[in-house]
Amino acid sequence: MSSLAGRRIVLGVTGGIAAYKAVEVCRRLVDAGAHVVPILTEGGARMVGKTTFSALASEPVRTSLFDDPETPIPHTKMGQSADLILVCPATARVLSDMRTGRSADLLTATILASRAPVMVCPAMHTEMWEQPSVQDNLAVLAARGVLVVAPESGRLAGGDMGHGRLAEPSTVVAAVEAALGGGELAGQKVLVTAGGTREPIDAVRYIGNRSSGRQGNAVAAEAASRGADVVLVTTRPASAPVGVRVVSVETAAEMATVCEREAPDAALVVMAAAVADFRPADAAESKLKKADGTPEVVLVPTTDILAALGAAKPAGQTLVGFAAETDDLVANAAQKLARKNLDLIVANDVSKAHVGFEHSTNEVVLLLADGTRHDVPLSDKREIARAVLDAALGHLS
Ligand code: CTP
Repeated sequence: MSSLAGRRIVLGVTGGIAAYKAVEVCRRLVDAGAHVVPILTEGGARMVGKTTFSALASEPVRTSLFDDPETPIPHTKMGQSADLILVCPATARVLSDMRTGRSADLLTATILASRAPVMVCPAMHTEMWEQPSVQDNLAVLAARGVLVVAPESGRLAGGDMGHGRLAEPSTVVAAVEAALGGGELAGQKVLVTAGGTREPIDAVRYIGNRSSGRQGNAVAAEAASRGADVVLVTTRPASAPVGVRVVSVETAAEMATVCEREAPDAALVVMAAAVADFRPADAAESKLKKADGTPEVVLVPTTDILAALGAAKPAGQTLVGFAAETDDLVANAAQKLARKNLDLIVANDVSKAHVGFEHSTNEVVLLLADGTRHDVPLSDKREIARAVLDAALGHLS
């Protein structure tokens, strides 16, 4: 059952173009069993129709402190009974009002009249998003415990490209699920690694790989949305989903140290990172100069983190590895599964189009230690993450 079943969520929609996406967020929350109480600010009501929200949410939409003679003080009732207040999208204006505690309208009055957790999903043009005033307001709110679903990069209103686009509805809903907890992984620690390691050659150069960290990020977000306490060890730190603690690393050795520390009490470990198998034996402290001639880079093996975790696997822990292959996908992955003492291996043929590194999609074969196999067709990496967790948690065997 979803952690949202029966939970009361006040959905505050403010006046950004992205308000149209809040319609989808509303529908998904209701589908997941939440009771959604919609509030449109004046600006929000200019962007999307009141009727749309009244039809999709669990109650008719409210827009003002004074529009319902039956309920003279709606903000206290809504604020006190909420399990969570979600502001989606959150404009620069509402962030500023929230910071100063200004009761400017029904939404900000409701936030003030509530002890429920508040989550904001900022969305605005890049110039606005990058204003020190906006960033400062957000930092203050975050420090006070307001949950922030960070905006993404992409197409903005008016055809511009840049940072500030509202997070995808699925990301917002996952953040709400994570914040309200109670999912099947509630109270359990999940360790996920992501991104490609960088092994220094000198002060400015490194040996790396094409891993974008997206698949690992998706696994972390999915685990968090199922209620887990997630530790994401990554070389590509991005804005962390709610419920995810990010530990930033660069090299295989740094990743090994953090994994050694964090793995023993984890119920589930997912090694999605592309860890370098070799590193330069001696990284030069300064930048190598052309004038000094062509350098000879001697490589030495790194620690196989996954194999070490497999050798030391505590009873009850589920260990998941990845295998990026170009030939003999299943045979190679099955060997790794056995050799590294894994419960599940996620094999992808990275020679195929739209698969693996640098893509937002993936196509994988899941091999379980009990010999079962599941093929997951080309899908969004979040969809793959769902299948990986389902398999790891025994839902697919
Ligand atoms: N891995 C790891 N530490 C390493 C290398 C890999 O933890 N030093 C993990 C990866 O995170 C992945 C799995 O091991 O989950 C498979 O990595 P891969 O490089 O494909 O396997 P290898 O054991 O290096 O085998 P091969 O070189 O034959 O492909």
